[in-house]
Amino acid sequence: MTSSLKHFLDLDVIDRATLREIIELGNGSRESDPSNRSNLPLVGKTLAMMFEKPSTRTRVSFEVGMRQLGGEVVVLSQSETQFGHGETIADTARVLSRFVDVIMLRTDDPQKLADLAKYATVPVINGLTDLSHPCQLMADVMTFEQHRGPIAGRTVAYCGDGNNVVNSFIHAATQFEFSLRLACPDSLRPDPSILRWAIEAGADVTVTDDPLEAVDQADCVVTDTWVSMHNKEEDRVQVLTPYRVTEKVMQHAKEDALFMHCLPAHRGDEVVDEVIDGRWSVVWDEAENRLHAQKGILQWCLS
Ligand code: CP
Ligand code: NVA
Repeated sequence: MTSSLKHFLDLDVIDRATLREIIELGNGSRESDPSNRSNLPLVGKTLAMMFEKPSTRTRVSFEVGMRQLGGEVVVLSQSETQFGHGETIADTARVLSRFVDVIMLRTDDPQKLADLAKYATVPVINGLTDLSHPCQLMADVMTFEQHRGPIAGRTVAYCGDGNNVVNSFIHAATQFEFSLRLACPDSLRPDPSILRWAIEAGADVTVTDDPLEAVDQADCVVTDTWVSMHNKEEDRVQVLTPYRVTEKVMQHAKEDALFMHCLPAHRGDEVVDEVIDGRWSVVWDEAENRLHAQKGILQWCLS
């Protein structure tokens, strides 16, 4: 990897001050008028987005965000490119680097992302892998702080599958210094090496199999789909049913607790309508903040 490149790969490999700088760039985006076309910072720059999995929010927010910053966008899907038909990641990285200024990849294997970053001569952004989803967590931190002020010292509880979003939550709890209470079935706990990293870094992250214990007096309750894009349905639904976020679950959190979900939601599975549409929910702000957070990420990568 060319050390001077500003890749946005995962929250554990970017220092805290830089993450905060990106959040502030994102907050600046939320406060700015996108119709003001003067002094656009990314005029002449092009973002390539490579999708090996479906997306609504990531695709639209990156594309709109890049355009609002004055830049251009190229979207590549697996079925339409040589990348999906045997061309190596190293060669794809070398070629794309001759055409564009920054590359975003959504893929399955985190090694593909690492290889892209190794061989690209432009910054690379992680748009989700089976292991992590750091862009989402930047938006989630922004959303909490938009509604409740600094997240440091506050408590976030997560109920459900210990998946890629949770792994990035563990990174975020460590870097942004909030407490994280995870309630996951024993068979679906988050990545042990990421948990170990967090504990060694002094983070306050705990895992239980009891959702009510996790949400007790929490400032924010979070969940995600029970069946991620890389999962087979199998018997996950049965083992995850006790982790559904219901009104009863929310009533164990603080009176003014927030509810967040990265979306897409599977209503009636991981969350009931009364919660996602209820007084706790900030999921639409959270979705909007993908746009602002990623405008921060793009500006940082290209600064
Ligand atoms: N939250 C999120 O990444 O949504 P998409 O899969 O629609 O991009
Ligand atoms: N955990 C989900 C997140 C979707 C944005 C998945 O990987 O499918």
